Amino acid sequence: MRIGVLTGGGDCPGLNAAIRGVVKKALQLGWSVVGIHDGWAGLVQGRVEPMTEYSIAGILARGGTILGTSRTNPFKKDGDVQRCQDNMQRFGIDALVAIGGEDTLGVAEKFSKIGLKVVGVPKTIDNDLSGTDYTFGFDTAVFIATDAIDRCKTTAEAHRRVMVVEVMGRHAGWIATFAGIAGGADVILIPEQPFDIDEVCEAVQRRHKRGKLFSLVVVAEGAHPKEGQLVLQAEKTDSFGHARLGGIGNLVGAEIEKRTGIETRVTILGHVQRGGIPTATDRIRATRLAVAAVELLEQGKYGYMTGIHGNDIGAVPLHEAVSKIKTVTPQFFKVAEVFFG
Ligand code: F6P
Repeated sequence: MRIGVLTGGGDCPGLNAAIRGVVKKALQLGWSVVGIHDGWAGLVQGRVEPMTEYSIAGILARGGTILGTSRTNPFKKDGDVQRCQDNMQRFGIDALVAIGGEDTLGVAEKFSKIGLKVVGVPKTIDNDLSGTDYTFGFDTAVFIATDAIDRCKTTAEAHRRVMVVEVMGRHAGWIATFAGIAGGADVILIPEQPFDIDEVCEAVQRRHKRGKLFSLVVVAEGAHPKEGQLVLQAEKTDSFGHARLGGIGNLVGAEIEKRTGIETRVTILGHVQRGGIPTATDRIRATRLAVAAVELLEQGKYGYMTGIHGNDIGAVPLHEAVSKIKTVTPQFFKVAEVFFG
């Protein structure tokens, strides 16, 4: 058996740990592995490399992905699907492990439907994939965002300011909710709950009246005001049709300062949440999910994604995993709200 492995979509900490898991498990089974460069783009263009023990040496703790990534969608361009199938044959690839989020695994699902032997491994810092309690990458992003909140809090307190910290989270506010709870945020704004800017300002003012002269507001990039629009950084969209987000924090910060008169500063964390070394939890999650994906191939169970279900690793059909976004459950958000004052 010869398998191919690729990483697609936005990178996240733990991708290299997952690649290592796939290669190690495959080698243990006596299989050979090829790494496909830059996600689905590499399969379209026939850019692959053989993977050995040496290819994965020392990568467990490294951020990024040694294979590279892209947001190429072969189902968007005439002829690309056929090119992928031809390259599978050309390089003798029997089956694929696709490591990605909803877009990359959406492509995997489409390939599975037309007969390709493919399994998926769930990654994304956003933690918004269905079929798994957690995606790898999320824990590291929460760790980084919490650290940033802690740091912004001490400077907010020193200057008696409001600090707005914008974190990633396109459709779901998992990072904002987790890091907000862990960092003791005074307000958390997430895409799932359109916010009322009056209420945000009232929360800040209530704190001031209680003698708390600083406040920390966490906002997910996909959060939006009631009946409002998302703030787009640019009109550009990627090949999956996603607009580039980022900047809602500036809007919220400006409004708070204007309405409350309290000096306000904004920090947009952006891609620092996606870079650098993965936490131990993400390394373990990535490794377990990747090893289990190769085991699915061994069992001939194609068209599935591995997932974390409690303490266990299970499998869900790819179509279930990509059919809907996993949003923040009210139970989590209610806990966060206790601290809004
Ligand atoms: O999907 C993960 C994510 O980090 C989103 O939260 C964010 O909107 C997006 O990727 C940004 O991706 P990029 O800047 O790489 O296009």
